[in-house]
Amino acid sequence: MSNGSEEHSEEGGAWSGSAGAEAFAAVEAATDWLLGYPFVFEALSGRIGEDEVLVDYGCGPGRVADRAARVLGARVLGVDTSAEMLAMARSTAPMVAEFHLVRDGRVTGLPDGCADAVMCNHVLASLPTEEAVLGVFAEIRRLLRPGAPFVLLTSDPACTDLEYTSLRVGTAGASYGPGDEMPLRLRRTDGSWQEVLNHAWPVDRLPLLLESAGFRAVGQRRPTVDEASALADPELVERYPWTAERAAPPLVITSALAA
Ligand SMILES: C[S@@+](CC[C@H](N)C(=O)[O-])C[C@H]1O[C@@H](n2cnc3c(N)ncnc32)[C@H](O)[C@@H]1O
Repeated sequence: MSNGSEEHSEEGGAWSGSAGAEAFAAVEAATDWLLGYPFVFEALSGRIGEDEVLVDYGCGPGRVADRAARVLGARVLGVDTSAEMLAMARSTAPMVAEFHLVRDGRVTGLPDGCADAVMCNHVLASLPTEEAVLGVFAEIRRLLRPGAPFVLLTSDPACTDLEYTSLRVGTAGASYGPGDEMPLRLRRTDGSWQEVLNHAWPVDRLPLLLESAGFRAVGQRRPTVDEASALADPELVERYPWTAERAAPPLVITSALAA
């Protein structure tokens, strides 16, 4: 088990360093808890047994990894390029079994084929080039045993026209190509908005990138509010009207199997 390194990593983009870790920990992520994470867990359930290994690649402060461990009963390992994020996760995500730093594009301390599943939520937006995306996919492919599932959660950079409950993607009317810089606004728990500069990864580009990184059986879905009513936390479903989410759901789940 990794006890984590306190060294600072230069990788990690928008959320790097301790300021980045604290900023991300303060976002509300209501839209993600409605239309994103529950569908990632659904895509994994039945495909990962109790106590099998699920890697959360780019786990950040560990909130999602912790919930995945509770919901799926899996042995969840959190990995991230940010030592500060891992330090935060270690103190706030008690159900996560281990934490590992990603250094020079490689997860320290995890051997080839050790994972029964990997999820990767909102990490691509930190990656500026196709080469960087392929590097992350290749490392995830290395961790997975053949035939094991990979589930990826991303925001659709085409969804620029609406203000969602907890996020705003890009600038209204703008269009973004692969890797383009794109502002993302995230609502904090105190109701204020935090803006970060992200990179756009059009969702129809992802299947080809996954296939060239050694994945097969790639599928995509865009969860809706109606579907979420049966899956997400009922209290969250009731808390907001979800007007924009109903009009144009902004999150896409891409699933694949390690070839
Ligand atoms: C927006 S946060 C998402 C955190 C978490 N997955 C969630 O959904 O709450 C993105 C995380 O990805 C990490 N990250 C960025 N680039 C990475 C890379 N190349 N490999 C692994 N983690 C990375 C960042 O340090 C950050 O913790």
